[in-house]
Amino acid sequence: MTAPYWNTRSPSWYHALVRPRQPVHDAFLQWCTERGTQALAPILDIGCGSSLYYGESFRDTAYTGIDVSSTAIGDCWSRDSHPFHHYEIAGIESLDTEHRKWGLVFSHAVVDHVPDIPAFLAASVRAVRPHGWLYLTAYRGFHDTAQEHVYTMGADGCWYNDVSPGALRAQLLECGVHEFSVEPGPVCDPAIGPELVCVARVP
Ligand SMILES: C[S@@+](CC[C@H](N)C(=O)[O-])C[C@H]1O[C@@H](n2cnc3c(N)ncnc32)[C@H](O)[C@@H]1O
Repeated sequence: MTAPYWNTRSPSWYHALVRPRQPVHDAFLQWCTERGTQALAPILDIGCGSSLYYGESFRDTAYTGIDVSSTAIGDCWSRDSHPFHHYEIAGIESLDTEHRKWGLVFSHAVVDHVPDIPAFLAASVRAVRPHGWLYLTAYRGFHDTAQEHVYTMGADGCWYNDVSPGALRAQLLECGVHEFSVEPGPVCDPAIGPELVCVARVP
């Protein structure tokens, strides 16, 4: 998947993504509240899209949104000028995480579209500071019986992945992460069933 593909998406497309997946966003924000959002900061949102929900929900928190799409990041900057917020055109795989780490790294509906899930996961883990958290969701469902991730290239040039919970657990262990859950999450589309929710504590 390349940024030019995502740049064909208008801001209204990014905005339309948010509402149907409200249960996932609400569950994630409740998780943050239970742990104390400020204690989790700074926060990194990988593949933030228009960041409609989080720009507002994290208004008092150090929050960075990254996305490979310049259209999406342009939309974020046009709506969110909060001094604690920062947006960057970047993919997580090429982000400099040697000198910058976050207390919470999260990503909604992005692992479903990356060309290399282990590389995405390893880069996401590297971005977390010691004892910080990783929170990932996959909107294409909880494919419990899949032994491996299934990657399908769509006619639109985008990868559509069925993420294997078992393979994800094994790849977290390979990244040195031993404290995690990979479970069925909220249902946003009854035709798909529960989404995948992965929560990990990075050592
Ligand atoms: C389906 S949208 C999800 C947007 C938003 N997270 C949400 O839940 O509404 C996927 C987004 O991920 C971005 N993206 C895809 N691969 C990425 C990567 N490797 N690093 C950062 N962003 C990526 C795309 O440009 C797109 O904006």
